[in-house]
Amino acid sequence: MSMKKFPEGFLWGVATASYQIEGSPLADGAGMSIWHTFSHTPGNVKNGDTGDIACDHYNRWKEDIEIMKELGVKAYRFSISWPRILPEGTGRVNQKGIDFYSRIIDTLLEQGITPFVTIYHWDLPFELQLKGGWANREVADWFAEYSRVLFENFGDRVKHWITLNEPWVVAIVGHLYGVHAPGMKDIYVAFHVVHNLLRAHAKSVKIFREIVKDGKIGIVFNNGYFEPASEKEEDVRTAEFAHQFTNYPLFLNPIYKGDYPELVREFAREFLPKDYKKDMEEIQERINFVGINYYSGHMVKYDPKSPGGVSFVERDLPKTEMGWEVVPEGLYYILKGVKDEYNPEEIYVTENGAAYNDVVSEDGKVHDQNRIDYLKAHIGQAWKALQDGVPLRGYFVWSLLDNFEWAEGYSKRFGIVYVDYQTQKRIIKDSGHWYANVIKNNGLED
Ligand code: FCB
Repeated sequence: MSMKKFPEGFLWGVATASYQIEGSPLADGAGMSIWHTFSHTPGNVKNGDTGDIACDHYNRWKEDIEIMKELGVKAYRFSISWPRILPEGTGRVNQKGIDFYSRIIDTLLEQGITPFVTIYHWDLPFELQLKGGWANREVADWFAEYSRVLFENFGDRVKHWITLNEPWVVAIVGHLYGVHAPGMKDIYVAFHVVHNLLRAHAKSVKIFREIVKDGKIGIVFNNGYFEPASEKEEDVRTAEFAHQFTNYPLFLNPIYKGDYPELVREFAREFLPKDYKKDMEEIQERINFVGINYYSGHMVKYDPKSPGGVSFVERDLPKTEMGWEVVPEGLYYILKGVKDEYNPEEIYVTENGAAYNDVVSEDGKVHDQNRIDYLKAHIGQAWKALQDGVPLRGYFVWSLLDNFEWAEGYSKRFGIVYVDYQTQKRIIKDSGHWYANVIKNNGLED
């Protein structure tokens, strides 16, 4: 039997995000977030779903950490809700918010699980949205202030930090497509937001260096593997543009090379702040690692009538419940690309997983062989990247629990643990048991 062994100390983890699992969004003095107001606005989320209850993790976090312990996970990536900590976004600190996350962190450490904290996973304080949110240049200082509170309160125990989750999604899906909070549709605003996210990230990293001297900090990007529909130059260029604009280069080029990638500059010059270059030196603050989220691949071709010239060509490939094509080798190419293009010190797969239409069988179990196949294929590609010298240090499954999938509400189940939303009962799916075995063996059995 051959075995795909991972290096000793490889961090096998699971990931979640605050608004998607916690519920009780206004408990204990928390302020409203933009996902609270967005999901409470009719028409924004499928079936009118909101994060009011979600997985009730706010009350059941202990049980959820016990599940992690049972699975044997080495690391847990979760996010902190900004308006629980600073209900108005800046200024007054809400001690009860600090206490909530402090208990989680202590319990994780007691169980030998390494916490990876995401500072921002999309739940901006609504009070800051009223001041323009990510479109206001001042947001970089607001974010720095919030980051400082976290580093001061948790930096003694948390040594792995992520400034932002998927800033492209924040900027583009939230401010150009209008599908996520705050639901805007303005390409100028969207690119100003891209730029402010980078500025905010860099300020946070700078403060981190002053406060958490022995910690590591990085940033997480969404990525799709873009393949051109033909070898025609216009199609190849379209795939390259989609890559530079949607994937890690949009942010890593500024961070490592001091400017936006070439094809983004051509496309977005008019939409970016006129004097954006003056911020580039500040943006180049050194980071310790890059987090890669990967789910799917896309075939694209040039079409002058499509936005940015990018038109998607549907392929006859297996799809997940999200309608996303399953392209495991894309994970390899993305990981290899990050290393070859920017050569960061460390890389993590910070999210990978699949939504399937899970059902509880008569035996009370969830037989999600499709998810096992998905995870197995992708972990195999992560292993391949390691063989080729990619400094991959860990892999996090999205997600520990079925949860609130943003504009899709509860209709999409990504968990390796099933959540019955009526009773809040958790059932470890077959994929969860399978993953526990991967962790135990530190690798894949063929
Ligand atoms: C990513 C998000 C995460 C989750 C997965 C499916 O874009 O970071 O919160 O919704 O997609």
